[in-house]
Amino acid sequence: MVKHENFKTCEQSGFCKRNRAYADNVATYGNTWASPYTLDPNSVRIRHGYVTGTVLKSLKSGGQAVQLPVKLAFLESGVARVTIDEFKRQQKDIGLRHGSQARKERYNEAAAWALVTDGELDKSFSGEESEEETVVRYGPKQRYRAVIRHDPFSIDFFRDDELHIKINGRGLMNVEHWRAMVVKVEKGKSEKKDPEDGEDESTWWEETFGGNIDSKPRGPESVGMDISFIGYQHVYGIPGHASSLSLKQTRGGPGNYEQPYRLYNSDVFEYEMDSPMTLYGAIPLMQAHRKDSTVGVFWLNAAETWIDIVKQKVSSNPNSLVTGGGTDTETHWFSESGLLDVFVFLGPSPKDVVAQYSELTGYTQLPQQFALGYHQCRWNYVSDEDVKEVDTNFDKNNIPYDVIWLDIEYTDGKKYFTWDPHAFPDPLGMEKQLNDQERKLVVIIDPHIKNVDNYAVVKELKSMSLGVKDKNNKLFEGWCWPGSSHWVDCFNPVTIDWWRSLFTYKSFQGTAPNVFLWNDMNEPSVFNGPETTMPKDNIHHGNWEHRDVHNINGMTFVNATFEALLHRDPAISRRRPFILTRSYYAGSQRLGAMWTGDNLAAWSHLAASIPMILTHNVAGFPFAGADVGGFFGDPSKELLTRWYQAGAFYPFFRAHAHTDTRRREPYLAGDPYKEIITQALRLRYSLLPAWYTTFHSASTTGAPIIQPHYYAHPSDEAGFALDDQFYVGSTGLLAKPVTTAGAESISIYLPPNTLYYDYFTYTIHPGTGSTITIPTPLDKIPLLMRAGHIIPRKDHPRRSSGLMRYDPYTLLITLTPEGTANGDLYIDDGESYDYQEGAFIHRNFTFALNSLSSLDFEDEKQRNKGKKRREYVRQMDRVRVEKIIIVGVPGSWQARKEVRVVEDGEGRGVEMGFERGGAGTANVATVKDPGVRIGRDWRVEF
Ligand code: GLC
Repeated sequence: MVKHENFKTCEQSGFCKRNRAYADNVATYGNTWASPYTLDPNSVRIRHGYVTGTVLKSLKSGGQAVQLPVKLAFLESGVARVTIDEFKRQQKDIGLRHGSQARKERYNEAAAWALVTDGELDKSFSGEESEEETVVRYGPKQRYRAVIRHDPFSIDFFRDDELHIKINGRGLMNVEHWRAMVVKVEKGKSEKKDPEDGEDESTWWEETFGGNIDSKPRGPESVGMDISFIGYQHVYGIPGHASSLSLKQTRGGPGNYEQPYRLYNSDVFEYEMDSPMTLYGAIPLMQAHRKDSTVGVFWLNAAETWIDIVKQKVSSNPNSLVTGGGTDTETHWFSESGLLDVFVFLGPSPKDVVAQYSELTGYTQLPQQFALGYHQCRWNYVSDEDVKEVDTNFDKNNIPYDVIWLDIEYTDGKKYFTWDPHAFPDPLGMEKQLNDQERKLVVIIDPHIKNVDNYAVVKELKSMSLGVKDKNNKLFEGWCWPGSSHWVDCFNPVTIDWWRSLFTYKSFQGTAPNVFLWNDMNEPSVFNGPETTMPKDNIHHGNWEHRDVHNINGMTFVNATFEALLHRDPAISRRRPFILTRSYYAGSQRLGAMWTGDNLAAWSHLAASIPMILTHNVAGFPFAGADVGGFFGDPSKELLTRWYQAGAFYPFFRAHAHTDTRRREPYLAGDPYKEIITQALRLRYSLLPAWYTTFHSASTTGAPIIQPHYYAHPSDEAGFALDDQFYVGSTGLLAKPVTTAGAESISIYLPPNTLYYDYFTYTIHPGTGSTITIPTPLDKIPLLMRAGHIIPRKDHPRRSSGLMRYDPYTLLITLTPEGTANGDLYIDDGESYDYQEGAFIHRNFTFALNSLSSLDFEDEKQRNKGKKRREYVRQMDRVRVEKIIIVGVPGSWQARKEVRVVEDGEGRGVEMGFERGGAGTANVATVKDPGVRIGRDWRVEF
């Protein structure tokens, strides 16, 4: 059970309590509330693609209004960005308490870490200003409009003249400006509190939690804003939480949460299900969806953040501006410090929102091929002999896997970059055995550096002053796995350089090129710190307080490791790094994979893994997984088996287990479990071409790797809350893992006017907007194929994915009633960056008019690009299609015995088999060995 007392509730987090109280107080005013923020009309300047001005915050207590410089940027892609700063802090015209060395400005470097570009300003933008408002038209075809009201300050966002998003429409905007500490007499309890400057001051200057005192040298500086989605009933995103895909309301009531969703990266021991509690990572991206429309916001702030969600029925309101639906979703965001920096995406589809977000924060890394295979981990494989034995056992049992992992015990006394000399006397020998089957090793390196004598790494960290400092500017010391430790400060460019030097093969001895990395505990986890992390008044490079950068901290560590892996040895050509991280922020998708941390071997955790992974997929970080089998505890064999069947559909597929658990490698499972698990693993391996193609698409468009129903069927309202079934990219593969004990059957929802086939039996399932039920004996994986797709596969079981490189392909085609299908296949060497120079094959397969064709996906320019491409295509010329399976062919095909294959202008006849389906089962045609080459243009006429 999670220890609730170790983590703050909103009431225990000063600024959360203050912002919620502000909202409550505004509510007591009803329509008479006037937000004290106005945009000074004289300050407004309309420039090329942006508008600037000053928002004035008037104070009840009188005195000069607080100046808040605002900038609105309008991007060509159709994104609008609203950035609000504070003049006095910008000018560093404030006093710090306790002799603090902290920076005086609001943290303004989150963008530098999270974004890869600020985006192109929209040149075709137009703006007009009147006394009351400034109106801007922007985006493609000026489809979007922002109406910036001056008094009170608020912004309405329209698409095609329809209102979608309102900012400060409820008047909850709250920028806590700098003020000197003065001792005030407390206001009487009965007196109505003024939300603007009469709020509870008890948490302004100091906060205590769990015996830790936060000295708050800058006083209160939170930023809060309400963002309403007009006519939207569903919102998604803001991972990570163990919650549903469609987010819940957070202001109490039946079935709702009492607490806001929290984003404050934390090592939450034994986290609970169905909760808005914070977890290890934070991506402040939210999508709102209704029938045929998706919009979104990205709240770019790295400090502790909370989000309240309330849904309001508005159908009875005749004055409502809503045309789309009867519900508005009202959200309220607040962060402890930093700029108020919000991006607004106006869709219109979920694809557009993720594409616009990904363009700004970067696309997910195209990983090495092996990373999509199966990963075998536990805490711990205890020696190099142990690793070799596990490796041999996989082979003896004909079970495929790609990567074996070493947790913290491989080190010499938890000193990273060392090996335990007794248990791992010969790491290179171990790595060589793995490499013989093209397998890899992943080792863990955490950000805490053991504080002991005779350890070169800590000695350098100290002498070069590369660690995070405490509030007195001394090297921060805390506890983690090694005991007393210091933390690398990867905000510092010098730390990054130094970190790089630690990973060279010469420096990190015992590592060969098939060794990759796991970065854990990077929230950072500090066992004796407040909420198991660092004190907020710690100081990072650039004198920023930890408070300002907390949620980005984990990403900076992975960034340093990524840099290091890129530069391990300049003599060896660059390979794509692979890094698994526990903590993350918007942008982390560029650097590797994430997993959902320390789950439990329980059915509820297996079930929760699916909405959690889906949420990351729609929030721009699709390379996500959960510990297969559950981290804590021993799963029953049934649970373990079902977990493998589900894990085979996680983008990141790794089994992991706590040190106190029994061994559970798949070959130990016994009959019939071992065989069933092996089948699940083989299914994953045979579909690797489809997975890799899907990853490639994610790395170029931001599209989720596994897609929830609303994403794939944005018009089908009945499925907007579905989060236990999903598609693999755009392959048409629809999986619904079994997540309950003893399940004899499972129901799957199918949208209207669609057609599906069972993956294994070719049973026909027409979609009618209701659920179908299929039997689920233990060896059954509920997996359907939507009609109209072409799925590339490799059907020869091998020991690892690397050994499948030149294996022939099977094309699995599912026909629509009209007899059409479509699909693609992306291939490259699966390890280097040569694909960036054109060394890839990307085919587009089309089936129409009884003819299957394979054509180059890219345009002519791409196709002829460079020597590397020619070499690659030549190298792949021996790789053929060995089988074409067509599901759903007409009965009349029975008479056909031969198809005509045309490649390089030459035609030949090839035999075709036909199998008539029984009742409710599709007819299937099979062409064995058409002999066509995977990288060439060809067609098969049926
Ligand atoms: C953390 C990780 C877990 C790992 C353990 C030891 O709890 O989440 O995966 O096994 O640390 O390194």
